[in-house]
Amino acid sequence: MNARRILVLGASGTIGRAVVRSLLDHGHDVVCLVRPPAAFAHGSRHNPDAVPAHAPRDVPETALAGADIRYGLATDPASLREHGLRGERFDALISCLASRTGAPADAWRIDYQAHVDALSVAREAGMGHMVLLSAICVQKPLLAFQQAKLAFERKLIDSGLCYSIVRPTAFFKSLSGQIERIRAGKPFLMFGNGELTRCKPVSDSDLADYLVRCLTDPTLQNRVLPIGGPGPALTPREQGETLFRLLGREPRFRSVPVAMLDAIYMGLSAAGWLIPALRQKAELAKIGRYYATESMLVLDPVSGCYDADATPSTGSDTLAAYYEAVLDGRAAAPDLREHAVF
Ligand SMILES: NC(=O)c1ccc[n+]([C@@H]2O[C@H](COP(=O)([O-])OP(=O)(O)OC[C@H]3O[C@@H](n4cnc5c(N)ncnc54)[C@H](OP(=O)(O)O)[C@@H]3O)[C@@H](O)[C@H]2O)c1
Repeated sequence: MNARRILVLGASGTIGRAVVRSLLDHGHDVVCLVRPPAAFAHGSRHNPDAVPAHAPRDVPETALAGADIRYGLATDPASLREHGLRGERFDALISCLASRTGAPADAWRIDYQAHVDALSVAREAGMGHMVLLSAICVQKPLLAFQQAKLAFERKLIDSGLCYSIVRPTAFFKSLSGQIERIRAGKPFLMFGNGELTRCKPVSDSDLADYLVRCLTDPTLQNRVLPIGGPGPALTPREQGETLFRLLGREPRFRSVPVAMLDAIYMGLSAAGWLIPALRQKAELAKIGRYYATESMLVLDPVSGCYDADATPSTGSDTLAAYYEAVLDGRAAAPDLREHAVF
């Protein structure tokens, strides 16, 4: 085993935490730069870098136990240098940093600018490799956060630094928004006939192991890496059927027209001219529409079709086993917040 010294950004997020666990399991030396607790950051609604009220502040000490946790602002290069690197040597940077809202201004500030600054600090500090958690949906960049991510991907590729750009399909948490309503006896909500999209769900820990493998596997370096979990691609209808089967109930579905999201988007966009706060909500409706109609699979650039067979797999965790674990209490229900459309 070739232990490395790694700086992790976004370590307090879902995948960041799993990456830190995987790095430690593989014997690496891990330093995390996390946002200071709200009081320390003068946390107020007017400070975009303060910890948002909904952020899981149980974080660092418990979830990142075993790593060297340092408080600072990943959005500020001076803080990154002073509080994160502290003039020390690191082999690589792994970033799981991402806008928590996907709202355009936040996305450009976090997914693009914070990464541009982090890349420059990493290079100046002599790091040899950057592993970036991106998203498969940047293949068809219709949303501001996708454009911001793609713009940074290009910067990283052009930088000359060794890179691994990991573009996962769908996380389990994003496919778990309806567990409680099904358990409560309600029907599964789906857009159209529930077969408009497909994805290859990947677990946090399988994805984290893959990101960590990028450090040592040359076949995962200087590459853009779309990646999904094991097994066939699943439609929303199949996800619902799995939940009903695990609960021993007859499947019940309710179809929601995609046009409803269009109407919400148009209404909020129009109202946004008068009430700027509604523009952000309009972007969220646009994000919801995107995921209601676009598959999270490799997109064939020639045919314009999504291709499950061309989407690589990693790991062994299945969504069905995860649903089962949540239903019988072995796994905690995911913290959904802004990730759930339903
Ligand atoms: N959900 C899916 O199905 C899916 C699928 C494919 C790809 N992805 C991509 O995966 C990525 C990460 O996902 P995730 O679920 O792990 O994200 P997450 O749980 O929302 O975590 C985001 C991380 O970024 C940090 N962060 C956000 N804004 C910050 C700011 N202003 N200053 C400092 N730190 C900030 C957060 O810190 P705090 O804890 O302090 O807020 C947290 O550590 C995203 O790029 C997403 O597009 C998601």
